[in-house]
Amino acid sequence: MTIDPQTDADVPEPVAYRRALGGFATGVCVVTADTADGPLGITINSFTSVSLEPRLVLWCLDEGSQRARAFAGAERFSIHVLGAEDRRMAARFARGDCMLAEEEYDRVGEGAPRLKHAITRLDCRTWQRLPMGDHVTIVGEVESFQVDGGDALVFFRGHYGRMGENSL
Ligand SMILES: Cc1cc2nc3c(=O)[nH]c(=O)nc-3n(C[C@H](O)[C@H](O)[C@H](O)COP(=O)(O)O)c2cc1C
Repeated sequence: MTIDPQTDADVPEPVAYRRALGGFATGVCVVTADTADGPLGITINSFTSVSLEPRLVLWCLDEGSQRARAFAGAERFSIHVLGAEDRRMAARFARGDCMLAEEEYDRVGEGAPRLKHAITRLDCRTWQRLPMGDHVTIVGEVESFQVDGGDALVFFRGHYGRMGENSL
């Protein structure tokens, strides 16, 4: 499908722009953190590794999200890279009911709540918060990590899919 916002009058330009961005296939993550309301999760795909030494990663938080204030204020958070089997989890943490139930997580010491499975989990301390337009870029220093493996859940043009090591 080709959308040219210059010539296709049926597609509002902001919609065309969002669709253009959707052409970048990504993994899918759930970020968890303790908040004033309790332990929360949010589905994201803006995760990026920034630096190896020190170990820095980032994700971008939409200021328009009802959970924005809670996540922007968190001192620690865990990023869970979701496996293909966790598609329902991605949908769940993209919607309203994002409070973690007690049986869904564990924690070590002062760390953020951790979901029980993820392809990769990165436990972070907030390094910097950078307001940028209608999002806040949250940079975290990775304090610990765990790798469980498995096929990845991917997101492309608004649809979920699966990516394994031999997908090509
Ligand atoms: C695949 C996927 C990726 C998403 N990526 C982000 C993201 O990177 N940053 C973000 O703030 N919200 C992202 N969202 C949206 C949030 O999960 C959530 O739906 C949004 O913040 C609205 O939440 P609210 O109901 O609490 O307002 C993504 C949603 C989906 C389904």
